[in-house]
Order: sequence, then structure tokens, then C-alpha cells
Amino acid sequence: MNIAVVGAGYVGLVTSACFAELGNQVICIDNDEVKIKALKRLKIPIYEPGLEELVKRNYKNGRLSFTTNIVDAVRKSLVIFIAVGTPPKENGEADLTGIEHVACSIAKAMTSYHLVVEKSTVPVETGHWVKHTIEINKKKSVSFDVASNPEFLREGQALKDFMHPDRIVIGVESKKAENILKELYSGINAPILVTDIKSAELIKHASNSFLALKISFINAVSRICDLSGADIERVALGLGMDARVGRTFLDAGIGFGGFCLPKDLDAFITIASKLGYSFDLLKEVKKINELQRRDFIQKIESHLWNIKNKTIGVLGLAFKPDTDDMRFAPSIEIVNTLEGLGAHVKVYDPQSMTKARKIFRNVKFCSDAYTVAKGSDCLVILTEWNEFKELDLKRMKKLLRQPLVIDGRNIYLPEKMKELGFKYISVGRK
Ligand code: UDX
Repeated sequence: MNIAVVGAGYVGLVTSACFAELGNQVICIDNDEVKIKALKRLKIPIYEPGLEELVKRNYKNGRLSFTTNIVDAVRKSLVIFIAVGTPPKENGEADLTGIEHVACSIAKAMTSYHLVVEKSTVPVETGHWVKHTIEINKKKSVSFDVASNPEFLREGQALKDFMHPDRIVIGVESKKAENILKELYSGINAPILVTDIKSAELIKHASNSFLALKISFINAVSRICDLSGADIERVALGLGMDARVGRTFLDAGIGFGGFCLPKDLDAFITIASKLGYSFDLLKEVKKINELQRRDFIQKIESHLWNIKNKTIGVLGLAFKPDTDDMRFAPSIEIVNTLEGLGAHVKVYDPQSMTKARKIFRNVKFCSDAYTVAKGSDCLVILTEWNEFKELDLKRMKKLLRQPLVIDGRNIYLPEKMKELGFKYISVGRK
């Protein structure tokens, strides 16, 4: 099938590369000329395991191409995915001007039938506005359909999530649109849920908000564990063994970050309010997430006594492992607060250092975890990268000024750390 994907960001690139891999002819469009030029030189702007290889292979075999020319791309494609950003506005609402602009450009370029699919995360009722925008900008004789096909990709495992999803959601208004999308996804072995457009849009926001709720719930329980002496790992295990709950997304820590969960939570609260419902439950989810970070900073403070002039070694900056993404990473608030309190902060992250250099001006960037530990008054773990789980802890202990480890991701066993002679503070565990 001939496909156009508008937006060469995270979602757009993964979608383009995967559809090409499935045998389709894909044109990926972006109005950022620098980005498109770089992509043509096979320079991938994000770190996502396996993506570079997939882009290279499909670019070289001619199934994937990059352009800034939306008119040409639209005319060559039956299905056009809109995968441009919907960044948060000051009030938490999603900024949909990019979507409107693209819908308008698509409409003006159309000379025959096209199926226009929302892939970006958008508030319920966006489909209606996309349809309206195309309607008033297109040539009279041209017909089209609008559909919603939300993505559920997790950074770090986006290719796997695309090729082996739990479900594919398609929101449509016509049998023709449904059949086109079903054919497009026929190479993927997953249940397809067909709904109306509004429900598909809502499924995405409800899913991400529910995941955020699960994390805040377990984080709140971790506070009770800290206060009572219970063990959050065991509690999460026992809770998760109930099939109705499930063990996934019950890892307590420093709270959720990234570009999706915080943004979608805000957007969902705002849409609900606009529609006349005050989603207080989700407001509390957000509050617990903020408190979790502050509580973690207090843990550091209470074990270091005065933070001023102490050297704090931080391992991990990305909002989660296997990504270089720093957007809304909990590390930003934590590192900035520690610096604000007068600490000297040394940091290392396996992938996000380039992006982190643009965010943190005063921290000392180190080449590895051992350099971070050298001379530090304590070691703080903010991202659960595998390489941190495999560190030579005896060596780390010798390098630290005092054997204090404050772990925001619960990556080590408390008994083992005790045995090695560390003072080990984690989340919701003794
Ligand atoms: C999320 C959704 O999972 C995905 O379906 C959607 O398409 C995009 O948003 P992503 O942002 O890549 O994906 O990250 P995710 O793996 O969901 O993690 C989000 C945040 O929650 C991270 O900061 C992570 O560290 C945190 N998290 C996750 C926890 O603190 N505990 C958990 O148990 C799980």
C-alpha cells in the first residue's frame, strides 16, 4: 500500500519504518528541512533500539523515503497518517495547531480519495475538526475518510510494540476506511478493535491515564511501606498476582515522566473539565507523582544532613532506560533541586548525555558510573539502566567518600547491599 506519514518525530519515524518493513511504500514527511536532510543521510535524530537499522534497510531497498514536499507525498498515497506533535500548552491542553495545519495542507493537495488517519495523541473530538478542516479546504469533487488509529508505543521498545501490539484500535466512520486499515495491518498478528472515532481517541487518553494511575497508586502504597516497614516489592507482587490487577506498571520509584504520561494526563484532565467533568481522581494521580519526587529529595537530605557543598553522584538521567529522551524526566527536577540546595552534582547516563548537556549547565558530566562515584558523598540512582544493575559494587564502595546509595528505582537487593557494607536507601523497602 502507498502510505504517507506526516511528522518525522518519534511516532512518525517508527510508524514509517515499521510500515515499510511490512512491505508498504512509505513516504515520511516533515517541514523541518534540516531533519529531512539528516534522515536522507541516514542520521536518526532519536535513540530507539533497532530503529536505525530498520530505517537504513528500508531506505536502501527503496520502500522508505523522506521529503518536505507534502503535496507530492499526499498525491502518491492512499493512506495519510498524521503523526505531528501535540505539545502541551501552558494550561495543560494539547496544542492542536500542528494537526490543523497538516489537515489543511492535505486537503489542498488531494486530487483523489484518501484516508486521513490521526496517529498523534489527540483529545476526543479532534477527528471531527480534522474532517471539518479537510471539508472546507478540499476540492469539491474529491472524497475522503477520516480515521483514528492511536499508537501505544513505549519508548525503548517501540518496534516490538508496533510489530506485536496487545491490540490495534481503529476508529472509523465507513466500511471503506475500516477495510483499508484492516488490510494495512493484516501482516500483524493482533486483535483489531473497530470503534467510532471518538471512542478510539478516548481509548488512548484513558489508557495512558490509567497507566499513570497505576504508578501513582503503587507510589502512594510505597509511602505507606516506608512509614510502616512493609516491603513494596512483595506488596506489588502479591497485588499483581491477581489477574484483574496484573504486576506490570506497579514499580514504585521516583514517579513517571517522559513525553506521554504527564502530557496526556494533563490533556485528559483538561478535556474532561471542558466537557463539564472535574476528573479529581486524575488530579490526585498528578499530585502523588509530584510528591513522590519531593519525598525522594527529602530522603537524600535526611541522609546527607546538609546538602550544601556535598558531592552527589547521579546515575541515570533519561526518564526511563533504553531511551535518550529527557523530556519531563524526573531527573530534571531532582538534579536542579539538589543544585539549588548547594550540592555539587556529577552525572552519567548511557544515552542521554548529549540531550542532558542542553538542560544542566553546572553539573559535571562523567564518562562512566565509576567516575561518578569517585569522591562522591552519596550515589543517587534515577534510571534503572541494566549497566547500573551490573556494576562492580565493591569497586563503587571504594570510590565513594561514604558508602551511601539512595536508589529511586529499587535496582539492588537491600540484603545484598547491607552485606556489602552500604547504607542503602530505596523506595518502600527497609
Ligand atoms: C507510554 C505508554 O506506556 C505508551 O503506551 C504510550 O504510547 C506512550 O506513553 P512511554 O512514555 O514510552 O510510554 O513510557 P512508559 O514505559 O509507559 O513509562 C512512563 C514512565 O513511567 C517512565 O518514567 C517510567 O519510569 C515510569 N514507570 C513505569 C514507573 O515509574 N513505574 C512503572 O511501573 C512503570
